Amino acid sequence: MQAIIPNVLEVKIEKLSNMGLGIAKVEGFVIFVENSCPGDLLRVEIYKKNKNFAFAHIVEILKASPYRVEPFCPMQKICGSCQLQFIDYNYQLVLKKEIVKDAMRSIAGEEFEVRDVIPSPENKNYRHKIQYPVSQTKNSKRLLAGYYKKGSHDILNIKYCPIQPSICDNIIDFIREEGQKLGVSGYEEKNAKGLLRHVVMRSSCYSGKVLVVLVINDNKITDSIKKLGNLVYDKFDEVSGVLVNFNTRKTNLILGDKVESICGDDYIEEKLCDKIFKVGAKTFFQVNPKSANNIFEYVKKYVEDNFNSPIVLDAYAGITAFGICLSDVAKKIVSVEEVKESVDLANQIVAENNIDNIDLCNMDAGKCFENFLKLGGKTFDVTILDPPRKGCSVESLEYALKLTKSKIIYISCNPATLARDLKYLTSKGAKVDFIQPFDMFPHTYHVENVALVSL
Ligand SMILES: C[S@@+](CC[C@H](N)C(=O)[O-])C[C@H]1O[C@@H](n2cnc3c(N)ncnc32)[C@H](O)[C@@H]1O
Repeated sequence: MQAIIPNVLEVKIEKLSNMGLGIAKVEGFVIFVENSCPGDLLRVEIYKKNKNFAFAHIVEILKASPYRVEPFCPMQKICGSCQLQFIDYNYQLVLKKEIVKDAMRSIAGEEFEVRDVIPSPENKNYRHKIQYPVSQTKNSKRLLAGYYKKGSHDILNIKYCPIQPSICDNIIDFIREEGQKLGVSGYEEKNAKGLLRHVVMRSSCYSGKVLVVLVINDNKITDSIKKLGNLVYDKFDEVSGVLVNFNTRKTNLILGDKVESICGDDYIEEKLCDKIFKVGAKTFFQVNPKSANNIFEYVKKYVEDNFNSPIVLDAYAGITAFGICLSDVAKKIVSVEEVKESVDLANQIVAENNIDNIDLCNMDAGKCFENFLKLGGKTFDVTILDPPRKGCSVESLEYALKLTKSKIIYISCNPATLARDLKYLTSKGAKVDFIQPFDMFPHTYHVENVALVSL
């Protein structure tokens, strides 16, 4: 018989869910509690109940977990961005390792070796890609820009965000003020009206420069947006360029297809493994370059220590960051990426760094794997798979197994799809040597993983 659970009750938080919610169990019934930490004894109130689980918020902290700390951002409770900022940073790392182990246990059905999480070199000012939605107040038409409030699409007008470089706060403040003076309207999601939808900024750890992208609900650059772009460029020495992205679709996707420049460069430069990369408006690039550098150095050292001049496939390559970092230790590299802008930038980076052992393919990874299979069997010593959050298709995994002689190095930002794909690979005879997590996103529940798979 199902337990009768009152709406207000006392619970002890046992662990953290993969979405950063505390988990308590009452007679087998699972209760997810926002803003809670393992070890907390709480009085909670259930606000949503399903058959086997419920969601609750805290009414009273009866005994706080010893790992609770004062969040350094006054907005933490309302902003949806840093879910774990009230938990001691070292304990966040312990919890993230548990999240990865839980995913492997529950989805892959395996106890793979999961190593301790390698911390982010910085846990403030680490976020170098900022995407603020923009709207406006009803009466005064003041522009609002910031992250969404927890669980909503209401914008929190953020003046200061300690996890991103402070120059970005200054730029966004300037855009809000000058944009309003120029009569730029903020986007209203409900009726798809208003001009400025998002401000996207990519800032470089290496040069300190910032690329600003104004995402507009129009098909051409308006006078007001052009003036705003020029004002931003003239005001801040740090701004390397201002671009406009056109997005008139009713969609949650931030960027549309087309980008045009208002002034300056259409990229920033970033340094990884002693190589200079170019990052554009639509290029995939990790938000935390210093932690990303740890991952690239780690994979490079692993390949250097375990192979002698291998042939490497870098799949889901973005700007071919793995391939370019590995070019010193590999005989040959083939990279495959579907976004043309990323491949064009990769071509420039390869030329500027005088690299002559990389072939870049601008196509769907599955199609590219299929073409290689037609040419022959196991072509690559090492295959790097770094797919988006949804993971790889079964066909791509099948092809990767057929094309690779020795190791698949699978990089993933989603423990659930990683577990699913590792389950498939091991069902075909592959062996997971270990999983090395990295903290790319301090104070959030996200965790990046590198899985080493032997064939
Ligand atoms: C997580 S990112 C990794 C990028 C790169 N490895 C890095 O670390 O910077 C995934 C990349 O896969 C690309 N992508 C997604 N689906 C693809 C597909 N079916 N074929 C080729 N590339 C794809 C995306 O455009 C994106 O650049």
